Amino acid sequence: MKPQVVRECAELHSVVKSLHLQNLRVGFVPTMGALHAGHISLVKESLKQSDWTIVSIFVNPTQFAPGEDFEKYPRTLENDLALLEEVNEKENIIVFTPSADEMYPKNFHSYVDVAGAALPLEGTFRPTHFRGVATVVLKLFNMTQADAAFFGQKDFQQVQVIRQFVRDLNVPIEIQMCPIIRETDGLAMSSRNRYLSPEARTRALCLSQSLEKAREMILRDGCRSRRVVDAAIRAILAHPNHSVDYVAIVDPVTLLPNEDDTIQLPAAILLAVRVDDTRLIDNLLIESEN
Ligand code: PAJ
Repeated sequence: MKPQVVRECAELHSVVKSLHLQNLRVGFVPTMGALHAGHISLVKESLKQSDWTIVSIFVNPTQFAPGEDFEKYPRTLENDLALLEEVNEKENIIVFTPSADEMYPKNFHSYVDVAGAALPLEGTFRPTHFRGVATVVLKLFNMTQADAAFFGQKDFQQVQVIRQFVRDLNVPIEIQMCPIIRETDGLAMSSRNRYLSPEARTRALCLSQSLEKAREMILRDGCRSRRVVDAAIRAILAHPNHSVDYVAIVDPVTLLPNEDDTIQLPAAILLAVRVDDTRLIDNLLIESEN
């Protein structure tokens, strides 16, 4: 069954109100569309835990800086709806796909400005990004009134930023993080992978491979952070047309490295790399020695 599609906030409001009157548990999966198996894994997790699942599809202009890929970001609504239809066996999926004017009408002037987890890493290279993400996500939380929201570890820092403002602003929603879904060769699935030529896609495997190598080094030798990071950067830059925004080993909550260059577990290794003109991110969590 095709999922029910809602385009206006007022209509979503009345649908949500009726679900709440029936005491039904609502799960929410925010996306920018161009759906792939990574997104669908979040939808499946929500379906497992909820009576109804709302999936938003909205390419959010405020999280893109001028010169980023907002215009060329893939918009594939028909295909997205077909993928969601495959998992809509119980006919309990609602797709919310508003226009930009619906989300940001004239005279829109309020933003959510997160510090803490939003400042390092992505925050350094995309300084206005998380303000746009936090603003749209809080708006969507308010509109969907969901009990739980499902995010991918693929955007690990994004999950920590959302947890931060949910905690700081007492937003009544549970935030769940689901594992990264990868292609069989290890490349983390991403809507942006379709920008890669076949040759660049092969080179992009160095992201997941250098993360695995870093994990091995840490678990085998308990290496100093600088040595592990340098080895990863060298492996990534060994390819033509690659540049590194960052490779960092950090505390998974603060997103900050240890000042003394040691690595304490649990740790998160995060990287952002440009392969030709495509900016890709990936990460890995090391929970403990075994
Ligand atoms: P988008 O990039 O479409 O991702 C939507 C959700 O899918 C995010 O929680 C992301 O982490 C998750 N996801 C993407 N690739 C994944 C993969 N390979 N495995 C598991 N999960 C994956 O993230 C955004 O959109 C936006 O910033 C949004 C939160 C919707 C706000 O606009």
